[in-house]
Amino acid sequence: MTDAADPLDAGERLGAEELRALQLERLRASLRHAYEHVPFYRESFDKAGVRPEDCRTLADLARFPFTTKADLRANYPYGMFAVPRERIRRLHASSGTTGQPTVVGYTDRDLSVWADLVARSLRAAGGRPGDVVHVAYGYGLFTGGLGAHYGAERLGCTVVPASGGMTARQVRLILDLEPSVIMVTPSYMLTLLDEFERQGVDPRGTSLRVGVFGAEPWTEPMRREIEERFAIDAVDIYGLSEVMGPGVAQECAETKDGLHVWEDHFYPEIVDPVTGEVLPEGERGELVFTSLTKEAMPVIRYRTRDLTRLLPGTARVFRRMEKITGRSDDMVILRGVNVFPTQIEEIVLRTPGVAPHFQLRLTREGRLDALTVRAEARPDAPPEVREAAARSIVAAVKDGVGVSVRAEIVEPESLERSVGKIRRIVDLRPRDDG
Ligand code: DLL
Repeated sequence: MTDAADPLDAGERLGAEELRALQLERLRASLRHAYEHVPFYRESFDKAGVRPEDCRTLADLARFPFTTKADLRANYPYGMFAVPRERIRRLHASSGTTGQPTVVGYTDRDLSVWADLVARSLRAAGGRPGDVVHVAYGYGLFTGGLGAHYGAERLGCTVVPASGGMTARQVRLILDLEPSVIMVTPSYMLTLLDEFERQGVDPRGTSLRVGVFGAEPWTEPMRREIEERFAIDAVDIYGLSEVMGPGVAQECAETKDGLHVWEDHFYPEIVDPVTGEVLPEGERGELVFTSLTKEAMPVIRYRTRDLTRLLPGTARVFRRMEKITGRSDDMVILRGVNVFPTQIEEIVLRTPGVAPHFQLRLTREGRLDALTVRAEARPDAPPEVREAAARSIVAAVKDGVGVSVRAEIVEPESLERSVGKIRRIVDLRPRDDG
C-alpha cells in the first residue's frame, strides 16, 4: 500500500540486500510449490537431478531446467496449474496463430498481485489516483485490457474500458471524457493519430498527458514521434501472459531509461539463446523469468524468446531491462544476417518524407529470400522526396544492418492499420512442406 507522502509501495522501498533476501526466500518457495503440485515440474526437475532444496543462492537457479512455450502447449489446458481448478478465478489465453493455444490461470491472490503491480506500473508511468485512464488494449482472452483495467482501478483511477477497435469512437471518448492517461499498443496509438487528423482535431490539444505503451516492440524514434505528435510522455510497459500479463516490467516517467523489472515478483535472467548459458549482467540475450509469488501457475525459468539485456536499477532498486529489440521468432535471417523489425523502424522513422507506417515483405527469388521495406509517404511529400526516401532507406539498411533490401514508398494510408498488436512481417515465401 502507498501513502501520499511516499508514493512508493513497500516492495519498491526495499533496500538492495533486503530485496535479494526476499527473492531467495520466495524463489525457494516457488520451486517447492511447482515441484509439489505440478507433475510437469516434478518430472523435469527429477530428470535434471535437482530438488527445490538444492537452491541455496539465487545463482543456483541456473541448475534448474527451462520451461518453454512447447511445454505449456503439451500440458494444455490445465496441466500446468498448481492449485485445484476450483481455486482458479480467471483464465486468459494467448492467441496461438499456429497450433495449440496456451491457457493461463489466476487465483484470487494472483489477480490481486497483478492489480497491485499494474497499479505500481501506472504510478511509475506518471498516473495518479483520480486520473481518468482510457484503456484501449483489447479486452478478452488477451491480458492487455483486463490487466490494465484492474490495475488502474486499484490505483484509484476512473477507468474507461474502451478496448480496441471502433477508432472514430475512441477519439470521441477521448475528447468527451478527458482522460489524462491512455494505455494502448504503440501501433494502435498511431492509428488513433490518423483518426484525430481525419476528424480535424489537434492531437496535441487533448487532455492526454501520459501514454503507457506495450505488448509489442517499439523504438526510441517511435517514442519521439508519439510524444511530439500528441504532446504526451510515452513510457514502456512489458509483460507476457505466461508470466502474468502487462505489469511485469515498467519504465519510469522520470528517467525513461528502460523498464524496471518488478523483481520482488519475477526473477529475471538473461541466457544465451543457443546454449542456454546464463549471461553476465549487461550482456544481450534471451530473457527468462521465474515467478516468485504466483499460486495458480508458477513458471520456472520460462524462456520468453524476447531479446534484451539487464542493467542496474536507477529510479527504483530493481534491475532494468533495456527496451526489447525483438523476439527471436520475429527475426528474419537474410543471407545470413539477422534482421529485426525494430532496426528497420529506427531507419524508417528518421527518413524525411516517410510516415511511421511500414511493413516488411519477405519473398523468395530463385533460392534466395528477399526483403522489401514498404513505408508510407507523408501526405505532403513530393515525388522527388519519396524517391530520395527509398534510396536512403536502402542505404541505411545496408550500412546499419549490413544487408541489401528493397524499399518501396507507398501512398499515404495504403498500409493496413493496427487495432492491437501490429504484424510487421508479411511472409510471401512459398511454403516448404517437405
Ligand atoms: O502482450 C501483455 C501486455 C499487454 C504487455 C499490454 C504490455 C501491455 P502476450 O500477448 O502474452 O502478452 O504477449 C507477450 O509481447 O513476450 C513480447 O514479445 C511482447 N511484448 C509485450 N510487451 C512488450 C514491450 C502481452 N513493452 C509478448 N516491448 C512478449 C516489446 C513486448 N515487446
